[in-house]
Amino acid sequence: MKKLIALLLAGAMCASLAACGAKTEEPAEVPAETEAPAETEAPSEDAEETAENPEAGSEASGEVTTVTEGILTMGTNAAFPPYEFYDGDDIVGIDAEIAGLLAEKLGLTLEIVDMDFATIVTSVQTGGVDIGLAGMTVTEERLENVNFTDSYTTGVQVIIVKEDSDIASVDDLKGKLIGTQEGTTGHQYCAQDYGEENVLAYTNGATAVQNLVQGAVDCVVIDEQPALSFVEANEGLKILETEYVIEDYAAAVSKENTALLDALNTALQELKADGSIDEILNKYIKAE
Ligand code: ARG
Repeated sequence: MKKLIALLLAGAMCASLAACGAKTEEPAEVPAETEAPAETEAPSEDAEETAENPEAGSEASGEVTTVTEGILTMGTNAAFPPYEFYDGDDIVGIDAEIAGLLAEKLGLTLEIVDMDFATIVTSVQTGGVDIGLAGMTVTEERLENVNFTDSYTTGVQVIIVKEDSDIASVDDLKGKLIGTQEGTTGHQYCAQDYGEENVLAYTNGATAVQNLVQGAVDCVVIDEQPALSFVEANEGLKILETEYVIEDYAAAVSKENTALLDALNTALQELKADGSIDEILNKYIKAE
């Protein structure tokens, strides 16, 4: 239903790969508070194998080549809870945990690099990182530059407004000033639907929401889960009931590295089948 327009990624290409490199050694460890017992206590045969012998990897992983030998380097933008956010110096969240399990299955050590969201695809493309995992939506335009793994979950673009806002649905957005996160699908859709001049793009979602609180924009269009956490953290905001666009999230991989893409898809398939992905999603996403 929604046609994707050409996004101005060019500006993002002069990417400062601000490698404020948060190194996450063991994001795969599911903390003890997790209710579901299955995963950590009774790993599947495969998981056990890789956990005890990281060199082994899963069959399909065989010999994958990565940017740095033995390491799976993930590019993300860690201002996007619950997918990626800081816990002290560590980057944690859904994507960090999934990447930890994927790396483990491939016999690799995970390293996470925090960068502007708008630079992630370029970084994957130019070999700065092996994968982009950032609550990133599969779009036709991104597919021109990178491959995507199978999707691991879906997201939905929602609208955050002040509690007393006169914006009640998507239909009221015309003529309003919309805050978005630079280089995201929310930015892209709003520019397409309401005109670039009505859209302000901030480097991250939290800043966009801050500007909404201060009245610099009338609303913020962003993915639902981070929206929920931003609204929780700021007084006087609400999320409109209406959904704007529903999307698939997946990991971006270089078109040059199809061996890695295949290995990740095999690993992802296994993690879906044994319930690990659901377990991670349920841990971070509260049922309504
Ligand atoms: N799903 C949206 C997109 O792919 C937003 C993702 C933003 N992610 C982040 N980690 N900041 O464009």
